[in-house]
Amino acid sequence: MSDLSRHTQKIWQQDKDHNIHPWTDFSTFKESGSMILSDSDNVSVSDSEGNTFLDGIAGLWCVNIGYAREEMAQAIADQITKIPYFSSFGHHTTEPAAALAAKIAELAPGNLNHVFFGCGGSVANDTAVRIIHFYFNQLGKPNKKKLISRVDGYHGSTYMAMSLTGVAFDHDGFDIDREMVHHIACPNPYRRPEGMSVEDFCDAKVQELEDKILELGPDNVAAFFAEPIMGAGGVIVPPEGYHKRTLDVCHKYGLLYVSDEVVTAFGRLGHMFASEAEFGIVPDIITCAKGLTSGYLPLGATVLSDDIYEVISVPQSDGALFTHGFTYSGHPVCCAAGLKNIEIMERENLCDQVMDVGAYFEAQVRGLGDLEIVGNVRGRKFMMCIENVADKKTKELINADASVGNRIADHCQARGLIVRPLAHMNVLSPPLTLTRENVDFLVQTLRQSIEATTADLRADGYL
Ligand SMILES: Cc1ncc(COP(=O)(O)O)c(C=O)c1O
Repeated sequence: MSDLSRHTQKIWQQDKDHNIHPWTDFSTFKESGSMILSDSDNVSVSDSEGNTFLDGIAGLWCVNIGYAREEMAQAIADQITKIPYFSSFGHHTTEPAAALAAKIAELAPGNLNHVFFGCGGSVANDTAVRIIHFYFNQLGKPNKKKLISRVDGYHGSTYMAMSLTGVAFDHDGFDIDREMVHHIACPNPYRRPEGMSVEDFCDAKVQELEDKILELGPDNVAAFFAEPIMGAGGVIVPPEGYHKRTLDVCHKYGLLYVSDEVVTAFGRLGHMFASEAEFGIVPDIITCAKGLTSGYLPLGATVLSDDIYEVISVPQSDGALFTHGFTYSGHPVCCAAGLKNIEIMERENLCDQVMDVGAYFEAQVRGLGDLEIVGNVRGRKFMMCIENVADKKTKELINADASVGNRIADHCQARGLIVRPLAHMNVLSPPLTLTRENVDFLVQTLRQSIEATTADLRADGYL
């Protein structure tokens, strides 16, 4: 065994024995352990044995500016040697926290001018819930507590964010708060009832929100949480007008509308924020994370409107505090990374690049729709999904035991490409620095991998 392999073997064993991985199938993990990623460059990552892969998923929808940027390393190091940490509780702040909050306020739509920092997307959504409840308490409406979100929505993995999440598979064996959170159906046009127009389907989904609010009682419902495009639920783009109409319904009944832009903010669809630029809505709250630092350091933000801030920034009683926050809220090094990330995105016009190369990517990926098992290709720009089916006409799924998403991802990996399996689907969310040549490699490799998987499925009797 070479020294390199011996080292790999040691890390692999340590990891398998002691590192509890998120979102892991332990039945296979206990056998196969994990691939060790040890190097990266722009759109590629390499394993500990030196094999290189094009990263078709930007880590986890997050490495938007690409990997291993020297100037990002420098910005982080500079901040560490100036002041690596101080709490932002009460009347202390640091320069990066102040500057990044101001920058996010400048980029966010409408009057969303106030930023609360946490460590990631789940915490940003939990923060939104705590602040929404506090807001209604302040307004003398303490019964407004219930939250509505959608089947197949994904909002994170803390208790509250997972309760908001509507992916049934993610709840299996765990508990969620079913008292506070209520789910309405997913507005997935591909899975609409046979014979129904997309317009009628949209009407029905909007009506469903209104019906749910009336069923729970408008005086009891505080907010509606929605991703502009549902990511982990399978990149669901709702019908035209859905977001605008659901926002109107929320405001008609005094609910706050929370747009979970953890995936869609910072360039993935070609805009710093997608809510207004892509979908024409100005929500009451936007949550974001991931692309905020391109994943270089953990950071999330809950961005609030002036109207909400005016209410929550008045002490609830004499001497009372706004008792919400974390040791790492406004962490100066993470905020410095956020500032550098946005600076790079602006200087390199990455949003314009997504409008150009992302549009090419979308068109090329859509071209895979001619393959035998590809039932639906959906998404926008650098946020795409391929849904595989047994029968394109009836949309019947391939037997779940076949793990078709995993098989395609494995074939891709063997050919030097990482794509994400999601049950019978595969998700694509590459770094925004992808070139047209990278797109061609990615799509050709995916085509070969889906064809190889189709042959395997036939050989194994699944087709
Ligand atoms: C839309 C959305 N919201 C929230 C989250 C949770 O973010 P985090 O994993 O940073 O807590 C995710 C993570 O994938 C997400 O996709």
